[in-house]
Amino acid sequence: MIKQAIIPLAGLGTRLLPLTSVFAKELLPINGKPGIEYILDECIEAGIKEVIFIISKKKLMIKKYFYNDSFYKKIIKTKKDPRIIKEYKKLLKYKKIIKFVYQNKPLGTGDAVLKTKKFIKDNYFLMLLPDDLIIKKNCSKSMIKVHNRYKVSVMASMNVNKKNVSRWGIFKLGKKLNKKNYFIKGVVEKPSISNAPSNKAVIGRYILPKKIFSELLKTKIGESGEFHITDAIQSLIHKKKTFLAHNFDGKYLDCGTMSGYIKSSLELNKL
Ligand code: UTP
Repeated sequence: MIKQAIIPLAGLGTRLLPLTSVFAKELLPINGKPGIEYILDECIEAGIKEVIFIISKKKLMIKKYFYNDSFYKKIIKTKKDPRIIKEYKKLLKYKKIIKFVYQNKPLGTGDAVLKTKKFIKDNYFLMLLPDDLIIKKNCSKSMIKVHNRYKVSVMASMNVNKKNVSRWGIFKLGKKLNKKNYFIKGVVEKPSISNAPSNKAVIGRYILPKKIFSELLKTKIGESGEFHITDAIQSLIHKKKTFLAHNFDGKYLDCGTMSGYIKSSLELNKL
């Protein structure tokens, strides 16, 4: 059973500047609701019981968003507005399942994941990247279903235009397991068109094994000054650990770039 999820939130969000110079991008409204709430709703609906947020001191406003009780209590006492009461209750529901850990230097997603090491209880856990919204169908839920059946690691996958492969992590795929799932032979970060092993990209939902932590401890920081989760995944695949690529059914919205962020509100508004 997958009961714990982790969400790395300690990045700088430079692609959304100037919006992110003083504001956490995960709290930016997408069709009137902070992006992070869509991610939490996906987790809750998928049966997740604990969500670990990896934040930094610069992003303490994320914690404050969920821990603003005295403010809400005062307003509710004077205004008695049912809408505000409902919103506050929703925050209390989220707060019950969230735990915070800190990554004060943005040394990459690999380093962020490592900060959760001592809190992960089971052999597998879910990781969601909050820039990647998947709407219409709960991607985490269908990945957990696949995991429960095959007891292996699973990563979300989507076909992308061959022209754009250099923007993504691209799967090298092995055999097809069934209509929606493939064995993964490797992952290549941002390949050129000619080097891309496929046109199937990694999207921000992962079911990872606890073993990833020992790989992360061995991973060195690269030239970019960061180390990525994909490097540790790659070494586990090398050691013959099974990873499946899951072609999800929902619609993907990229909220990490300015044009994607604007489009995502429009898409959600159509629902
Ligand atoms: P990205 O590198 O895609 O996003 O990280 P970013 O750093 O937030 O934004 P840009 O690229 O500067 O615009 C993917 C996810 O991993 C988190 C980010 O917060 C984001 O949710 N992350 C990234 C960390 O938690 N720690 C890091 O060191 C790096």
